[in-house]
Amino acid sequence: MLLEHNVILINMKESEPEVIARGSNFIFCAPTYGDGELDRYTRSFLEQCNERMWQDKHVYLIGLGDQVLHGSTFAGCLWHLENYFLRRKAILNGRWPATGYKFKASCALGVNNDFPGLVIDEVNQSNLTSSRLTTWLINIGLISKEDCNKITVKTASE
Ligand SMILES: Cc1cc2nc3c(=O)[nH]c(=O)nc-3n(C[C@H](O)[C@H](O)[C@H](O)COP(=O)(O)O)c2cc1C
Repeated sequence: MLLEHNVILINMKESEPEVIARGSNFIFCAPTYGDGELDRYTRSFLEQCNERMWQDKHVYLIGLGDQVLHGSTFAGCLWHLENYFLRRKAILNGRWPATGYKFKASCALGVNNDFPGLVIDEVNQSNLTSSRLTTWLINIGLISKEDCNKITVKTASE
């Protein structure tokens, strides 16, 4: 369970990729910028990573997006992340259904109408962030239902 483990927060803007060698499970969170692209800090961090650095690491993706203003490229960052990590033989988990969002298109959408990771829309649905996050953490087995009471989710809008 997540709460029983040593969890550290890595800010990609300030960290060297070598830090990846120290862990085996990663919740990898990034926003979508441009037209469904990764932001420049995430891109730069990933570009600096060694080709084999992510092999056999367990990676759980979280992508941020805006389904109203960017409804045709919604959460596109997840498409880039999924491709990046699969190519490097990481073990991806934590797919998330597309129900509950309203958007025109997303290259990240899978055949089962789901995303390769949790999608957070802090611009339009910040009220759902906390419940989405805890449900997702339970789904992927990183926390138990009982753990929910021990967790405080602080969103950007708070
Ligand atoms: C210049 C710009 C481009 C964006 N492009 C997209 C996009 O293509 N798709 C999307 O879903 N969201 C897009 N967004 C929305 C951001 O992903 C969203 O606001 C996110 O919460 C930003 O996270 P941050 O504040 O942590 O950087 C864009 C936002 C900005 C400012």
